[in-house]
Amino acid sequence: MDESALLPALPLPDAERAGLYRAILTRRDTRGEFLPDAVSDETLSRVLVAAHHAPSVGYMQPWSFLVIRDRGVRRRVHDAFLKAHGEAALMFPEDKRDVYRSLKLEGIMEAPINICVTCDRDRAGPAVIGRTHIRAMDLFSSVCAVQNLWLAARAEGLGVGWVSIFDNGTVQRILNIPKRVVPVAYLCIGKVKGYHPRPELETAGWRSRLPLESLVHFEQWGDQSAEPALLDRLRDSARAARDGSIFG
Ligand SMILES: Cc1cc2nc3c(=O)[nH]c(=O)nc-3n(C[C@H](O)[C@H](O)[C@H](O)COP(=O)(O)O)c2cc1C
Repeated sequence: MDESALLPALPLPDAERAGLYRAILTRRDTRGEFLPDAVSDETLSRVLVAAHHAPSVGYMQPWSFLVIRDRGVRRRVHDAFLKAHGEAALMFPEDKRDVYRSLKLEGIMEAPINICVTCDRDRAGPAVIGRTHIRAMDLFSSVCAVQNLWLAARAEGLGVGWVSIFDNGTVQRILNIPKRVVPVAYLCIGKVKGYHPRPELETAGWRSRLPLESLVHFEQWGDQSAEPALLDRLRDSARAARDGSIFG
């Protein structure tokens, strides 16, 4: 096989294209719907392969995946969550605290697998193509791996919940992660009862999805005048995403 020959740049066949959009649009953050059922190594491997095929700055691949099943370790992470969760409530305006406290914001003990996705800041030496001027690009690369993992998990019928309400240093110590390695995402993964049709924070009245057309600018920040037709199209596409007709 000629390694330099390009693969054809055709759109995916309709059903595959629809499948990809379906995974993107029906992916949810899962907290309260985990089932205790085991996830096979085969499925978990596929999901991790998807994560490992994420783009990364300078092809750095700064990620590692720390798979945690042990209840004792998960309990310690959960304790770190509980401490931060109590502190977090006080950071919101008083009239929102009760709603905040009522939200389920993690599934650490319910999900059979937790995975900490990390970023090794030294993985490719001091000078990395694309990270010479913006050091955080390695962290962003690990986040790309998280997103791949999340979408692949959705395609496999699994749920993923990202937990970020704890002191990262505490979690780093609990998991024995070296100093140069940053814990980027703590994910709860498992089979689920189902997926909420909308983000739970939306259903709870905390926040709604922003109109896509308000987030697109042309040529200069704040300028929306150049492409009214595209803005109309964005409005239509966002509506089609909401009612499911975007799948065609
Ligand atoms: C960086 C990041 C951190 C997050 N941390 C938490 C968290 O600590 N607890 C939680 O319940 N959800 C967390 N989430 C999930 C968001 O709340 C969720 O993505 C958002 O409400 C939209 O819902 P959806 O993912 O179901 O579409 C996090 C998501 C991201 C991207």
